[in-house]
Amino acid sequence: MIASNIVKIASKGQPLWKIHRLNKPIGLIGSQQSRFHGDYPKTEEIQIKWILKDGKEVITPAAIGASLLQVAHRHNIQMEGACEGVCACSTCHVILAKDVYDNLEEPTEKEDDMLDQAFGLTPTSRLGCQVILTAEHNNISVKLPKATRNFYVVRFI
Ligand code: FES
Repeated sequence: MIASNIVKIASKGQPLWKIHRLNKPIGLIGSQQSRFHGDYPKTEEIQIKWILKDGKEVITPAAIGASLLQVAHRHNIQMEGACEGVCACSTCHVILAKDVYDNLEEPTEKEDDMLDQAFGLTPTSRLGCQVILTAEHNNISVKLPKATRNFYVVRFI
């Protein structure tokens, strides 16, 4: 079943779906969607250690000023980002160390609302699209939850 806020906008080749929230288009799902959600800074000065769903660890470079979602997509880390970083889903849910979490700005009310939908929410959970990297984030660990809840298509990945 497809949620009523998703509209198919292409029928040839791979399907493309437009997501609406409160009657405004907020993103796309499908093979034509952007994988980088805006400009990615040219240089990658820091590193992130990703703890994947299966427990494996991967270290990638990352750019200061990029979001965790952008870095994940740039380096093929399995983070969905169904709403393309507009804080309208919870599929970019990440779990941070307490010290990293404590040094971030407070989540907005909108982010808190989306986090409430996240599978496996923890006290140090954030949305990857809302965490913007600074030089202080060099060598942080970012854990991906075992599953995400994509309420647009009502399934677990
Ligand atoms: Fe949807 Fe982050 S990608 S909330």
